[in-house]
Amino acid sequence: MSSVTKKPSSQQREQLLRAARKTMKHAHAPYSNFRVGAAILTSKGEVFTGCNVENASYGLTNCAERTAIFAAVAQSGPKLDIRAIAVVNDQGVPCSPCGACRQVIYEFGPEATVFFQSSGGWKESPITELLPEGFRLK
Ligand code: THU
Repeated sequence: MSSVTKKPSSQQREQLLRAARKTMKHAHAPYSNFRVGAAILTSKGEVFTGCNVENASYGLTNCAERTAIFAAVAQSGPKLDIRAIAVVNDQGVPCSPCGACRQVIYEFGPEATVFFQSSGGWKESPITELLPEGFRLK
């Protein structure tokens, strides 16, 4: 099994959750008051993080997951290979990635594992379970 497809260890999951919680504190969420943090683990073992950044023009809001992915591309280039992504929020409520973020995760991590809080507690799902038939141009 390649390092890309291998499921992250519980230690790596804890590392991602810690990193996501730290970055969640940087969220700009004056409209929803719902702070979200995300951390991605790449197949090279790097970790990148993001938070939600809202805007007075609500639709311009960027979710934590996409902030983390865009930061990773900006810092490390487009050969990004996401092995896992963890999402946390400051209210301890269920919060799975939105549809737009699922498609962006899929772009860079078709075999990524997603850690998130579901209605039944913490959950670990392959992105293809959250986004069946994700779109690909090539
Ligand atoms: N949000 C995220 O950042 N990630 C998610 O997975 C769900 C929603 C943000 C967007 C907005 O700033 C706030 O949460 C409320 O929707």
